[in-house]
Amino acid sequence: MCGIMGYNGKQNAIPIVIKGLKSLEYRGYDSAGIAYLKDENVKIIKEKGRITELEKLLDDDSSNTAIGHTRWATHGSPNRINAHPHNVGDVIIVHNGIIENYSELKEKLISNGYTFKSETDTEVACAVIDSIYKETNDKIKTIEKLKDVLKGSYAFLILFKNDNKIYTTRCGSPLILASNIDGNYIASDIPAILPYTKEYYLLDEGEIGIVDFEKIEFIKNGNIIKKEKLTFNFSVSEAELVGYKHFMLKEINEQPHIIKEFLDYYFENFDLIKDISKYKKIHIVACGSAYHAGLIGKYLIEKYGHIETNVYIASEYRYSDNFITKDTLVILVSQSGETADTIASLRLAKECKAGTLGIVNVVGSTIARESDEVIYINAGCEIAVATTKAYTNQVLTFSLLAYKLGIKNGLISNEDALEIKKEYYNLPNEINKILKLDYKSLASKIYKQNDIFFIGRLIDYYLCLEGSLKLKEISYIHSETYAAGELKHGTISLIDEGTPVVSIVTDTSICEKTVSNINETKARGANVILVKRKSLVIDETCYDELIEITDMSDLVIPMLSIVPLQLLAYHVADLKGLDIDKPKNLAKSVTVE
Ligand code: F6R
Repeated sequence: MCGIMGYNGKQNAIPIVIKGLKSLEYRGYDSAGIAYLKDENVKIIKEKGRITELEKLLDDDSSNTAIGHTRWATHGSPNRINAHPHNVGDVIIVHNGIIENYSELKEKLISNGYTFKSETDTEVACAVIDSIYKETNDKIKTIEKLKDVLKGSYAFLILFKNDNKIYTTRCGSPLILASNIDGNYIASDIPAILPYTKEYYLLDEGEIGIVDFEKIEFIKNGNIIKKEKLTFNFSVSEAELVGYKHFMLKEINEQPHIIKEFLDYYFENFDLIKDISKYKKIHIVACGSAYHAGLIGKYLIEKYGHIETNVYIASEYRYSDNFITKDTLVILVSQSGETADTIASLRLAKECKAGTLGIVNVVGSTIARESDEVIYINAGCEIAVATTKAYTNQVLTFSLLAYKLGIKNGLISNEDALEIKKEYYNLPNEINKILKLDYKSLASKIYKQNDIFFIGRLIDYYLCLEGSLKLKEISYIHSETYAAGELKHGTISLIDEGTPVVSIVTDTSICEKTVSNINETKARGANVILVKRKSLVIDETCYDELIEITDMSDLVIPMLSIVPLQLLAYHVADLKGLDIDKPKNLAKSVTVE
């Protein structure tokens, strides 16, 4: 949440920072601002709304040093005053994160004569920095003191008046730094840096980065330190639309290719798919779509590994009694690897001496670095706020973990293992077929509706949860998911003539039961869209629209069944003319509680 970009170098920093912010807009987009050095002064320009609104206020000024911010509001509404950068005394900052003790600090600062213009925790942090700097008159000592004073999470870019360096530090929220012959760059995520270089440094907690015109220096405990340079595996086109109308559509269409690469890599390096058979119980902890991927993980691990597995929402897990023991493996699932609640759950699991395994997309992210072991899902750069390809590769990762368990304990014979491997490799081909179906006309039948219901059982229920989340988050249509058998315990009273009901039926063991539940909705007038396994014979009277999925093992079929739901959500939102990649109130990487 919140995008941060800074530049110090030979070029005009203003367009570089604006371009960087645009590529980070998926992290927050309710207001934006920039601060740049101009003739010994610092000029701050900010505005409510998208970065294009900020651009309207910029003249053709130039500067070599600038910091910028695109905001996802936490404290105070999205308006110009609350937008970053904030300036107090000699200090100007942009901030990603939440300062939890800001009220207490604000009271103290007010009693010491500080006044505040905004409602933000960031302005308080800025005043804290200014007040410490007034005492120490030493910028590094000031920044080093912050970890003792501020509670919560932060990534700061800091300018001091009469100094042309950018200072940066972080706790919780991520920051990367990079250089090329034109200058030095700081950003909260990879896409902002990608047009300039593929090499970067990750700022670790407790470190300070000093970015001047010519170089970047890192300081830890008062000493200059050397840091290892890392390399992005992404190409610039990953962060570009390359002809697609939206990143979400591009990312859905990338799935066959990404799955193929994933399979090639992990079947070549099968030991990287960890053997988790020694654990007595497994906790899968995640948020949102990653949590939904975890539910499928539970189903497959229990079926093929016979290990008791429970799935938890990270924001609940971190505050619950979870009975974590040394025999527990806690699996943290996260695309960004920076989700605050998932990080907190990881740290809790480590305190309890459980084994920890991160299933993560972003290389070098906090969850990847702090987990005992990590499996990268290798989904590439995901820009659309609504996840698609990362979700699919999270499910695929669980599938391979279960496949490995099944082979080890004999539930999957050598012969079956080979057949299933062939099916994995046939997935890209099957997804390509599903991608070609006509979702526009299907979407046209439901995009004007106010409520939609998704029903399924077991693995199909978990897929429905994800399909429903996709639809509601980008189309703003109220959508709910029920385990199909649960509907008649109350919710069926909401089914009326024409109410859309989407159902997935791929689980052969429970198919007839789900069909009965579909019929119960049909009898009350529901308009049923059915996604079913091809070989299942279901009477035509049960549905109004049908999408058929090729028969595959339950280890493989979930990656296929989800694709029509992703595309249905996409086309419904597109028909409504919505800003699909940046849905209202959302942000890509949830680095606050
Ligand atoms: C929904 C979506 C979110 C994320 C959730 C976790 O489309 O993208 O629900 O899945 O915020 O994010 P990560 O995976 O980065 O921890």
